[in-house]
Amino acid sequence: MTKFLDLILGSSEPVLSEASAPDAAAIARLHAASFHRGWGEDEIERLLLDRSILTHRAMIRRKLEGFIMSRIVGGEAEILSVAVHSAQQGQGLARMLLRLHLGRLAGLGVKTVFLEVDESNEPARRLYRRTGFHEVGRRPGYYADSPSGPATALTLRRDLA
Ligand SMILES: CC(C)(COP(=O)(O)OP(=O)(O)OC[C@H]1O[C@@H](n2cnc3c(N)ncnc32)[C@H](O)[C@@H]1OP(=O)(O)O)[C@@H](O)C(=O)NCCC(=O)NCCS
Repeated sequence: MTKFLDLILGSSEPVLSEASAPDAAAIARLHAASFHRGWGEDEIERLLLDRSILTHRAMIRRKLEGFIMSRIVGGEAEILSVAVHSAQQGQGLARMLLRLHLGRLAGLGVKTVFLEVDESNEPARRLYRRTGFHEVGRRPGYYADSPSGPATALTLRRDLA
């Protein structure tokens, strides 16, 4: 059945590549479906055009199913957002995106990567633990508008190279 669908619709294997401005609408949709406060399409397009921002996307059958975005300042980068469409979660797509992204950041001379994650976001914390991030700080109440009340943000760090 999968082979038949592959023949009709194209392969179900994810294709990972750098994202660009034409991906803004698809990223905005995925962001809005994934986070309490979505980013507007214009805001995302601005980020995609910004030379200090690096974004990768995962396409399956030509549909954007995941993305990761970070801002590079000097030898440091901050992961701003990562999301995978709910129907594709739990299959290693975020890990693939993150590994590709970290490799590209290292190639661009980034030495240290930081990010903030909600302490209660178990899938994200597992993703980052598996890919070598460790906790370097915590900010209680940082996510003030979290649906389940003010939530703690953990600051994670990963050294590259
Ligand atoms: C976090 C997110 C990007 C992970 O995407 P994904 O493609 O499902 O992740 P992977 O399949 O690569 O799995 C990463 C880890 O999360 C675990 N995981 C995935 N879904 C899970 C779930 N529903 N509950 C618990 N753990 C889960 C996986 O088992 C894996 O851990 P392991 O290697 O120890 O087994 C995805 O859940 C998502 O888009 N969430 C909403 C947006 C978000 O919270 N982004 C992170 C903001 S910091």
